[in-house]
Amino acid sequence: MLVRTVKEMKSLARNFKREGKSIGFVPTMGYLHEGHISLMRCSKKDNDITVVSIFVNPIQFGENEDLDRYPRDLERDLQICKDEGVDFVFYPSVDEMYPEGFSTYVEVEDLTDRLCGAFRSGHFRGVTTVVNKLFNIVQPDRAYFGEKDYQQLKVIQRMVKDLNMDVEVIGCPIVREKDGLALSSRNKYLSERERESALSLSKALFEAKKMFEKGEKNPEKIISEMKKIITSYPEVKEVQYIEIVDPETLKPKKEVERGDIIAVAVFVGNTRLIDNIKI
Ligand code: PAJ
Repeated sequence: MLVRTVKEMKSLARNFKREGKSIGFVPTMGYLHEGHISLMRCSKKDNDITVVSIFVNPIQFGENEDLDRYPRDLERDLQICKDEGVDFVFYPSVDEMYPEGFSTYVEVEDLTDRLCGAFRSGHFRGVTTVVNKLFNIVQPDRAYFGEKDYQQLKVIQRMVKDLNMDVEVIGCPIVREKDGLALSSRNKYLSERERESALSLSKALFEAKKMFEKGEKNPEKIISEMKKIITSYPEVKEVQYIEIVDPETLKPKKEVERGDIIAVAVFVGNTRLIDNIKI
C-alpha cells in the first residue's frame, strides 16, 4: 500500500505499535534492484510489518551532483515491493519532507570527515537528517542498511547510539552481479564501455583481498597494486580514494589486519561509483 503523507504513515505506525507488532524499515531512494530486495527480505524475515521508503532526498546531493538525473521508476518499484510482500511503501513529496521553514539538521562529526565525506561536503548531514526524520515517521524496531555504503551504515549506527534512538540498525552484505560489480541504481548511467570499466573496482578489491590472504600486511603495497589495476581500465576518469581503514573508526591503517575495510571511490566516465570489501 502506497502512503504519501507523514500524517498517515505516523498513524499506521502508531496503530501497529499499539497492537504489539514489530516494524522493519528499509529506506531507499528507489530505482530498486537486488541489493534493495535483499534488505526487504531480511526485514520480512525478522518483523511483522515491513515498510520501504522511496524518497530521492535532495539535501544529500551536492550542487554538482546527479539529483536532477537520478533514475526513477515508481511503477516498477511498486511492483517489486508488491512481489516481495512489502506491507507499505512510504513515498513522500519533497514538500512533505521539507516544508517551508524547515531548518533543523542532524550532524555526526568525525566519521563523516573521512572517505566519501572528504569529497561530498554536506552529504552525510543530508543522510542523517532524512534518516532521523524517517525513523520518527515510521517508528521502526529495526532498520536495514547495505554494507555497500559502509560509511553510511557506520554513520547511522553512530547517530542512533549517540542520540539514544530506539531502533536496531542492521547491516546487510553487498549484492553483486555475477561478474563482481556491486549493484547500484547509478549503474544505469553507464554505457557499455563504461560498464566494463566499472568492473575495475571489484577486480581491485578482490585482488587486494588475495594479496592480504597471501600475507601482505603493508597497506601502501596493496593500495598501489589496486591503483594500477583500476587505472588500467580505459573509462576510469578519476580515482577519488583507495583506503584501508579500521571497520569502526574508518581511520587509515598502518598495518592491515583481518576485519579491516578496503574502500574505493572512482569516477567511471561521469559516474561516481563506490565499493568496498571486508578482509
Ligand atoms: P539507496 O542508494 O537507494 O540505497 C538504499 C539502501 O540499499 C542502502 O542501505 C544501501 O546501502 C543499500 N544498497 C544499495 N546497493 C546495495 C547492494 N549492491 N547490496 C546491498 N545493499 C545495497 O542509501 C540510500 O539510498 C540513501 O542514502 C538513504 C539511506 C535512503 C537516505 O536517503
